[in-house]
Amino acid sequence: MTVLVTGGTGYIGSHTTVELIQKGYEVIIVDNLCNSSESVLDKIAEITGIRPKFYLVDLTEKEPTRKIFEENKIDAVIHFAGLKAVGESCVKPLEYYYNNIASSVVLAEVMAEFGCKKLIFSSSATVYGEPERVPITEDFPLSTTNPYGTTKLMIEKIYTDLAKADAEWNITLLRYFNPIGAHESGLIGENPNGIPNNLMPYIVKVAAGELYQLSVFGNDYPTHDGTGVRDYIHVTDLALGHIAAIEKLNEAGVHIYNLGTGNGYSVLDIVKAFEKSNNIKVPYVITARRPGDIPECLADPSKAERELGWKTKLGLEDMCRSAWNFAQKSLKK
Ligand code: NAD
Ligand code: UFG
Repeated sequence: MTVLVTGGTGYIGSHTTVELIQKGYEVIIVDNLCNSSESVLDKIAEITGIRPKFYLVDLTEKEPTRKIFEENKIDAVIHFAGLKAVGESCVKPLEYYYNNIASSVVLAEVMAEFGCKKLIFSSSATVYGEPERVPITEDFPLSTTNPYGTTKLMIEKIYTDLAKADAEWNITLLRYFNPIGAHESGLIGENPNGIPNNLMPYIVKVAAGELYQLSVFGNDYPTHDGTGVRDYIHVTDLALGHIAAIEKLNEAGVHIYNLGTGNGYSVLDIVKAFEKSNNIKVPYVITARRPGDIPECLADPSKAERELGWKTKLGLEDMCRSAWNFAQKSLKK
């Protein structure tokens, strides 16, 4: 089976590519490299022994996207490509709406033209907005608080309408909670440009001495220690969730799954776990809440377990150790 992985040189796409190759899938990657590097292909080759075929294409451009399908018989697509920084999306909303939505529409148009109607889409827990309670099940009300989140919700709707209009489509929407960590090899991982927005990459840079200290955004939330609680999931477990989803991609219609662990950890839990797992200090200071943050975000992942037979296996220590291992091995200049 040949799978086209869009955004496959990115953080989650590269980990999923590794797992796909190791399970015997043939993988083709398309990416415009706006947030990743072609060198990731060499790392994938080092881990798996196979360098996937690569197309440097912007998915908002239809003709180059068509060419990928003309040149290959593609059975299914996992669509990771997109811009993902919440803060940046508030500053550049049009860029986010255009890139994420146009690419998702062009991709589906081209897939339909070539009769490839099996699609897995990277959605996010951000589509639950500020949930009334936790854990969150897939039938919770949907809302968004920033343009990035709105693109995810709009794309979910576009793909749902598509499946309604044409019963041949088989679409799985995967709502990720907070992916962190890296491949056990330390060869691929998360490598954001500039100062990181997300917690784990920031902690890694503080531990490495590149940033002075972590700002903990608020300690007055109604959580066990007052800091924000999230459902952190090891990126390898998340990648394996895609394997489970692709293996079940044979029922028409739209299928929606939360991919999380069901366990919540606070910011300070993460700091302590990182310090303990890696025997390194992470200096921090408590600062004001970050606008738009919610107190707690926690998945009920039981639907994915029931229907896909998927469950996370890796714990917080694995997440912290692998993130630091990647930084040590691959981020040193
Ligand atoms: P990433 O930025 O590492 O990977 C996305 C890739 O898409 C990048 O390599 C980028 O170059 C590529 N890309 C962007 N626009 C493109 C376009 N128009 N054409 C071709 N390639 C394009 O991000 P990631 O963390 O691996 O996230 C993958 C997907 O998962 C994204 O859709 C993201 O919104 C979603 N997601 C991520 C998280 C998270 O915390 N990382 C959480 C929930 C959902
Ligand atoms: N945090 C800090 N200091 C930092 C960074 C984060 O205290 O420097 C705190 C936040 O306040 C929050 C927690 O750490 O309580 C996690 O923050 P992240 O920025 O790592 O993650 P978010 O839960 O805010 O959002 C992430 C992605 C979203 C995605 C969401 C759910 O950025 O795109 O997970 O998948 F939608």
